[in-house]
Amino acid sequence: MQAAASIRLITKEEADIGLLMEADPDEAMIRSYLDDSLIFEMREGCRSIGCLLLFSHDKTLMEIKNIAVAEAYRNKGHGLRLLQFAIEEARRRGAQKLKIATGNSSTGQLYLYQKAGFKITRIVEDYFTNRYPAPIVENGILCRHQVILEMLI
Ligand code: ACO
Repeated sequence: MQAAASIRLITKEEADIGLLMEADPDEAMIRSYLDDSLIFEMREGCRSIGCLLLFSHDKTLMEIKNIAVAEAYRNKGHGLRLLQFAIEEARRRGAQKLKIATGNSSTGQLYLYQKAGFKITRIVEDYFTNRYPAPIVENGILCRHQVILEMLI
């Protein structure tokens, strides 16, 4: 069962950079897309428990640039709810395709995104090893490649 939580549009000044960095460890990278993204906050009562950044590439393509749920609130359905919200919001804004990208080592995220209806469409080889200064290891796997998933909405 999905937990009750609300989602609202916020400004970049209100955005929780620490939480966004749990999804993308490169703060400079986050700041490069933050200005041009729609920023949504998920709240439970008075607590901020999640965030979602939606970026428009053009009239037809939107991308979830960043999605994160605070650690204490994970595995309760909030991530899936944020994905479903993003799909509805992108459709409402006239997009025809929604994209999300992650690393080859993010097995839980790859599971969740496919469960939400995204399909793997492309791999950008050595994306993370070429761009990020320090190696990222998750689930005992070196994060090398970017996995792109898309959904027609
Ligand atoms: N590892 C293992 N399983 C996972 C993970 C994970 N990291 N994340 C989600 N799942 C599984 C859950 O077990 C659950 O499975 P079930 O439905 O079979 O029980 C399912 O996915 C749904 O999980 P939710 O509870 O809806 O997701 P949650 O609220 O935990 O949020 C999120 C998922 C946002 C990925 C969260 O784990 C998180 O904030 N992680 C750190 C930041 C991050 O990695 N963000 C994504 C980076 S990529 C990007 O931002 C574009």
